[in-house]
Amino acid sequence: MILVPFGYMLQQAAKGGYAIPAFNVVNMETIQAVVRAAELEKSPLIVQLFREDLQFAGADYMVAMTQVAAANSSMPVALSLDHGHNFEQAKLCVDSGFSGVMIDLSSDDFDTNVRATQEVVAYAHERGVSVEAELGTIFDADEPAEVRSSGMTDPEQAREFVLRTEVDALAISIGTAHGLYSSTPKIDFALAKTIVEKTPCPIVVHGGSNTPDDDIAELVRLGVSKINVGTDLVMAFNDGVIAAYEKNGRTAQLRDITREGRDALIEMARHKIQVFNRHRKV
Ligand code: 13P
Repeated sequence: MILVPFGYMLQQAAKGGYAIPAFNVVNMETIQAVVRAAELEKSPLIVQLFREDLQFAGADYMVAMTQVAAANSSMPVALSLDHGHNFEQAKLCVDSGFSGVMIDLSSDDFDTNVRATQEVVAYAHERGVSVEAELGTIFDADEPAEVRSSGMTDPEQAREFVLRTEVDALAISIGTAHGLYSSTPKIDFALAKTIVEKTPCPIVVHGGSNTPDDDIAELVRLGVSKINVGTDLVMAFNDGVIAAYEKNGRTAQLRDITREGRDALIEMARHKIQVFNRHRKV
């Protein structure tokens, strides 16, 4: 299998004191960039597609492109759906050849979240595909600090959720958020540590952009084994593209424009991986 399920990858990371980068991408150039960065840093990788990009990118295109990139890489590569909202989205990705899916019903009540996750786990596991779910509320980073710190994950509930669903990874709310922060994030490290210790599966932190590197490295040291990054990669790509247009104008070759975006994304992804490996033991 060219694309590997992420369950085993994350267990190894938890033992080794590092985190697997889970990078959100949407097209060939961004897939090439993250796979190249992982290759250069000698890190396994999870390539991710956000549910709202499913229609734009096409699940089948994502599988084909990621397979080619993985075949040209010496590191293990997984392809997962990010924040899938229902069984149909997860099924589409599993049937298309993704090696992982996330089902996020964290905004529903606990029992609904458990039941829907169980359904996805049954379908995915039968086909050798890993599953991530979410418990607690991970807000958008432009919300005020007091909103962002509400809805943190309860450690007892996390344990019960994982025992009942048998997910391969659980995303938790401990103070990070998606996007650009309205003020410096305040992370509850003690809560993260308790959840890592009590929960019988690898733990995931979302909102890896714009969060101070030292905070991310500390979360990894405490045992978080997957960090999601989206916004910082998009901004790096955009910076590269903008600089290339400014230099070359509207008649520039597209390869010259997208190459600058890709190169800038590679540098940002490499930096993130170095942070995730800061306390690596093996
Ligand atoms: P950022 O865009 O804040 O990095 O968050 C990405 C993410 O968590 C995707 O699930």
